[in-house]
Amino acid sequence: MSTLYPLAQSVANRAHAPYSMAQVGCALRTSSGATHQGCNVENASLGLTLCAERAAIAAAVATEGPAMRIVEIAVCCLQAEFSPCGACRQWIAEFAAPQCQVHFRQEGRWVSMPAAALLPSGFGPHSMRNLAG
Ligand code: THU
Repeated sequence: MSTLYPLAQSVANRAHAPYSMAQVGCALRTSSGATHQGCNVENASLGLTLCAERAAIAAAVATEGPAMRIVEIAVCCLQAEFSPCGACRQWIAEFAAPQCQVHFRQEGRWVSMPAAALLPSGFGPHSMRNLAG
């Protein structure tokens, strides 16, 4: 189990989730060794909800700048089990270090997968480099 798990669980308690009642926390470690956390922040205009993963990534960029790279990231919901949603997979891909691992709960256990496996054939920074020629 990643040492990020207790951090993700802890920050999930601060989620603003009055609509889904799903409190989600995320903790990530960057290549600098620093950790950053985020929780989901829902809104009465439901489509404006921010997921925990994207909140954690935004915090990491705000603290370390856009060159930060994620080496591992854990997501934890206090009421259910799930892996990062599609939008969050795309955000992770934007900042993932080559060997980035993603940890989440599945069937009562923590599982770890390479970020690349969560977004096969994904659109990412490499796609934009191709676009630039
Ligand atoms: N949620 C996350 O925080 N991360 C995900 O990867 C999927 C979903 C949140 C959004 C919403 O507040 C609640 O979980 C239920 O969808």
